[in-house]
Amino acid sequence: MSLLGVLDRLSEVSKFDEQLEAARTAVSGLLRPQAFKDLLHGRWLGHPLHPVLAMVPVGTWASAGILDLLPPARPAATVLIGTGVAASLPAAMAGAADWSEQDKDVTRLGAVHAATNVAALGLYVGSMVARAKGRGGLGRALAYGGLGLVTGSAAIGGHMSYAQASGMNHAVPMARQMTTDWIDLGPLDDLPEGRPTLRTGEGQGTPIAVAAVRRGPRVDAFIGACSHVGGPLADGEVEDVRGRACLVCPWHGSAFDLENGQPRRGPAAVAQEKMEVRYEAGRAFARLPQRHEPK
Ligand code: FES
Repeated sequence: MSLLGVLDRLSEVSKFDEQLEAARTAVSGLLRPQAFKDLLHGRWLGHPLHPVLAMVPVGTWASAGILDLLPPARPAATVLIGTGVAASLPAAMAGAADWSEQDKDVTRLGAVHAATNVAALGLYVGSMVARAKGRGGLGRALAYGGLGLVTGSAAIGGHMSYAQASGMNHAVPMARQMTTDWIDLGPLDDLPEGRPTLRTGEGQGTPIAVAAVRRGPRVDAFIGACSHVGGPLADGEVEDVRGRACLVCPWHGSAFDLENGQPRRGPAAVAQEKMEVRYEAGRAFARLPQRHEPK
């Protein structure tokens, strides 16, 4: 087993699922209203916010670890540790918002990630208290302990993002598979008005789901897997969200603007892949813009 393979084993432990579900419900209830949750998801940024915010405590604490090696720079190390402690709160809130709307295996590992971070934070707070009391040696020992924990926790977070794909745009693998040929969505009259319909495009050996929505004479078509965690958008619905007609994912309620695929409501932070559409002899055809042309 690889070094981080043990994390995959951990993510299979279902013993605490009930407690995790209760925690997830509590987090969802606390992070209200939806606009606040969207702020934490990073919908306004077009990218998950948590990894951006997490850079601050990780960076300041790592820098403090270097400065603590140089006696004249130790007061600056204390300032950096305090900065990291203060910055850990918004980073944790953004992480909790993302965590509350993830798959079970990610949720399990996310709980380990969070617990490790809380332990690291405790050591850093202890380090600040020790330094304030003039016990610099203890303060530095606690800080190095915290740095070890936060490094491990960062590795867990990276594993969640890369190995468990928790932070990726789940529409992109499908878009990469798809050829740039036009896909026949069928006669306009066969597409129901105002609700998504599943159509299938040609992938490279794999059929690719497309979610098509007809509104009068026009059709909007998207890659069928939601950018958040791959929910089936063709099973969703069309809803007015903040004054715009949106395609709403059935899994966690992300709402994508039918005009441009931009998320109008999270948890999705990135836009949904939108396809070009043309019309010929009463039929609609869709294809991906050329940027995904296979090499
Ligand atoms: S999969 Fe989560 S909102 Fe679509």
